[in-house]
Amino acid sequence: MTRFSSSVNSLRSSEIRDLMSLANKPDMILFSGGMPDNNLFPLHQIDEIYNNLTEKEKQIAMQYGPTSGIPELLTSLKAFLKKKGLPVDENKLMITTGSLQAINILAKAFIDPGDTIVVENPCFIGAISAFKSYQANIVSVPLTAHGIDLEQLKETLANAEQKPKFVYLTPNFHNPAGTLYTLETKRALIEILSNQDIPLIEDDAYSDLWYYEEDKEHLTTIKAMNPTGIDVCYTGSFSKILGPGLRLGWMLVPEHIYQKCELIKQAVDACSPSFTQMLAHKFVESGAVYNYIDDVRIQYKQRAETMVAALQKNLPEGITFTAPRGGFYIWLQLPENIDSTEILKKAIEKGVVFVSGKTFDPHGVKNNNLRLSFCNTPVDKINEGIPLVAEAIKDEIKRK
Ligand SMILES: Cc1ncc(COP(=O)(O)O)c(C=O)c1O
Repeated sequence: MTRFSSSVNSLRSSEIRDLMSLANKPDMILFSGGMPDNNLFPLHQIDEIYNNLTEKEKQIAMQYGPTSGIPELLTSLKAFLKKKGLPVDENKLMITTGSLQAINILAKAFIDPGDTIVVENPCFIGAISAFKSYQANIVSVPLTAHGIDLEQLKETLANAEQKPKFVYLTPNFHNPAGTLYTLETKRALIEILSNQDIPLIEDDAYSDLWYYEEDKEHLTTIKAMNPTGIDVCYTGSFSKILGPGLRLGWMLVPEHIYQKCELIKQAVDACSPSFTQMLAHKFVESGAVYNYIDDVRIQYKQRAETMVAALQKNLPEGITFTAPRGGFYIWLQLPENIDSTEILKKAIEKGVVFVSGKTFDPHGVKNNNLRLSFCNTPVDKINEGIPLVAEAIKDEIKRK
């Protein structure tokens, strides 16, 4: 028998993935993927950027680059992050192959098999998989409408048998819950984590996709608050503000953590693609990124509001959700006795697909939630698909 490592043997293909393979009919309405709409990519600008590269720049693009990233992108990205208030001069920036790689590298830097780490419940599935691949003992704390449940976090930290190696959070427009942490929650978190010798991994893949001006103060990242006594490891991504196919993200971390991460990245892929780094650099340096974000924000806001209205009109009583203030997702809360995988089966038969709740439970159990993505589906399809989701929910409630 082939003798795989114990870490690989602990990874499982989810039943959801198997179910999803049934959902590949061409006219299926997709509320499942967390990816931008193909029709929103800035294709003409990318054509123009490539065509205007000098020969020297094309050569740089075709070549290996430094492990930390090509200097051109490091410079333009630093300016972009500085505008968001991030402390780029007091930290080190590394370009990574998607922000999932940044999370993965940080996980590798901190986790020995069996180490305890703390995450939110629900939690981004990519991060759960990365942490599991290093055999972490994952402890989860529930999310409330304002962010992580602070009392339960305090209790968890106080009662943990082993001091957690880090806390991983997505404070701005959480995946899957859509939650935007309030500024007060972020401040309280800083107080809880200060001088505990527990680093914070702050995943900030979505903060540019806010919909309402009045939320701006709450968008301040914990990293930007530059708290003393906490090593904040901030991660971000070009996936939602340019295109996930570029596979570009970043980490902004204290120097001593960066040193270890650079060694890890050298062993993983030596460097992220210089080719896409050069394109991203021009996109940021020219300022095109700001106009593009303004444009897509309007599209996603319209889709979010359309989905909220359709849900309010069609959902049966007893199903609750918080209207998103940004990002890509709506997270439905179903009655305790309802299993969202059963709803998913019915929904697929009706021609619509979403992701069931336990996918995002670090322990793979809690299933009375479901995630609807509105990012990848035009408004008319949202209006067509939500009544079908509601029907599937009603059918399952009736069956129970
Ligand atoms: C919360 C969160 N973090 C990180 C990522 C990873 O993005 P990427 O690796 O494409 O940068 C995603 C992707 O969906 C996400 O939702």
